[in-house]
Amino acid sequence: MSLDVQILNALRAARDGAVSGAELSQKLHVSRAAVWARIEDLRSLGYDIEASPHRGYRLLGTPDVLHADDLLSRLGKTKVIGRDIRVFEETTSTNDVIEKLARDGVKEGVVVFAESQTRGRGRLGRKWMSPAKRGLWLSILLRPDLRPQDATRLTVASATALRRAIESQTGLKPDIKWPNDILIYGKKVAGILTEMSAELDHVKYVILGIGVDVNLSQGDFPPELRKVATSLKAELGKPVSRPELAVAVLRELDHDYARIASGQFAAVADEWEAHGTTIGQEVTIRTGDRRIRGRAESLGEDGALLLRTEHGHLERIIGGDVTLEK
Ligand code: BTN
Repeated sequence: MSLDVQILNALRAARDGAVSGAELSQKLHVSRAAVWARIEDLRSLGYDIEASPHRGYRLLGTPDVLHADDLLSRLGKTKVIGRDIRVFEETTSTNDVIEKLARDGVKEGVVVFAESQTRGRGRLGRKWMSPAKRGLWLSILLRPDLRPQDATRLTVASATALRRAIESQTGLKPDIKWPNDILIYGKKVAGILTEMSAELDHVKYVILGIGVDVNLSQGDFPPELRKVATSLKAELGKPVSRPELAVAVLRELDHDYARIASGQFAAVADEWEAHGTTIGQEVTIRTGDRRIRGRAESLGEDGALLLRTEHGHLERIIGGDVTLEK
């Protein structure tokens, strides 16, 4: 654990109280001058740390920036997700960064955030707008023990986890549109891009790429998106703390990843169905050049959407775009 993480942990543990320089130096086995230097550095990053000669140090406020040590300190211990967190000011796509780490053999659970992406991508080859410091743009490396045909379970689990994190941090009640769009009052606020490397019978690694439109203003969206996309800030009428939301997302994902790993996909699927806008609806699915119409019946055991077509067949849908027929 880095010194910054330990200092932030100690300041947080003191809650409203203060911690003296002497206590910190003793606890962390470094000189008081070293503690002071780290505190100055944290202040330069925007942490509001009061230093009083009598009381010691007190954490008064934290900036709305993503700082790996701060995220690690807030997150605490998880089973898999977030045991290693890296933050970039700018990158092409966080999925690209994770892919490189995956090929270098890095352990699962590493999370990469970027304050902005120059080539953020969405599903079906679409662009994903990622303006600086307005959203959460992150990717996670997983090495699940799954067959490739069951990898969609991870997408389903990420959507349930992301939905819960948004609800707990904002009080909003998001819905899930198949496969993994998070909607608020019918407008998209977050999306998930799952990329995978697999052999015939087993998954080598999965990259979960998550984009959440947190503090974008209406004007940040191009006109053609304003009717279909929104941000948490726009729906709530006030900004949302990105570091707090980031940590909530990682905690919920860790929980659902454990559920999948311990064979509890049925419980995840039930939760997904309870919040999904798709099941029970007449829908049109576009996948490649195909258009399939039918009624969305349920989620299969592998996470696929089971669609009763207009001709009465049951089709397993694992990709594409869904439109609800009104
Ligand atoms: C979608 O709904 O189409 C999926 C959007 C996924 C966007 C995220 S942002 C972080 C990660 N990096 C990317 O380039 N894409 C995903």
